[in-house]
Amino acid sequence: MPLPPSDQNPLSNLEEWDEFLESKYVGSTGRNHEDYRNFDEPDRDSVREFYRLNHTYQTYDFVQQKKADFNSLDRREMTVFEAIDYLDTLVDDSDPDIDLSQREHLLQTSEAIRADGHEDWFVLTGLVHDLGKILCLFGEPQWAVVGDTFPVGCAFSEKIVYPEYFAGNPDVLDDRLNSRLGVYEAGCGLRNIDLSWGHDEYLYQVVKDRLPDPALYMIRYHSFYSWHHEHAYEFLLDDLDREMLAWILKFNQYDLYSKCSVRPDWEQLRSYYTPLIEKYLPGILRF
Ligand SMILES: [Fe+2]
Ligand SMILES: [Fe+2]
Repeated sequence: MPLPPSDQNPLSNLEEWDEFLESKYVGSTGRNHEDYRNFDEPDRDSVREFYRLNHTYQTYDFVQQKKADFNSLDRREMTVFEAIDYLDTLVDDSDPDIDLSQREHLLQTSEAIRADGHEDWFVLTGLVHDLGKILCLFGEPQWAVVGDTFPVGCAFSEKIVYPEYFAGNPDVLDDRLNSRLGVYEAGCGLRNIDLSWGHDEYLYQVVKDRLPDPALYMIRYHSFYSWHHEHAYEFLLDDLDREMLAWILKFNQYDLYSKCSVRPDWEQLRSYYTPLIEKYLPGILRF
């Protein structure tokens, strides 16, 4: 098994993966399919290559290594505002006139949640939900930061996007890890499951003691599409997971479909977000 490549980043920008998801899950919103670009064309080579890398190298052992490395949270201390500014330094290869910056995506998500009159912690969750993408600025490759997440340590579901690429993952040959339950027990709850490593789990580790359960589920599982959109892995769930599912689905609508051409004015919105951050996530976050 060669070492995982850390220098191969097939996506021209992280949003390319989000746009792929929009096209894949557009049916659940009732929004017109014509509104979105079609990514089902065979020439979507960059997304396919991204998933080939992701599915090949996200092994059970890889996830244990990343948890041991990053969950120490000793890389950088930042306030929420500083973390947003830092994430926004992530430079895309794409055309900046068309693609939203990371900050704009966060603000459009939170402002859409706010416009619908939701609870203040829900708005804040929209504002911070992708801060884990800071992993890219720590040198992590795209395939270990974004992409649909899925359990490792048990058989990979056919309902995960591009399941054929798991053929290259050594865990499929490991009898300890390739059965339906693998290293887990039925009904053990998602908190006892290791998902593939990425920005969801990382930000969860940063904020886990500071936000209510629905917010933590939105942050930790928003990319676990094979569960919340395809109903895979339901044999691993416990009662709290089933209860929280509705919140994740509610959040995903804003994450995927809040993109619009109106660019939020960060300076103008600071006065609203300052006390909100002060209420739930004051002071320093450790990344
Ligand atoms: Fe995300
Ligand atoms: Fe997002």
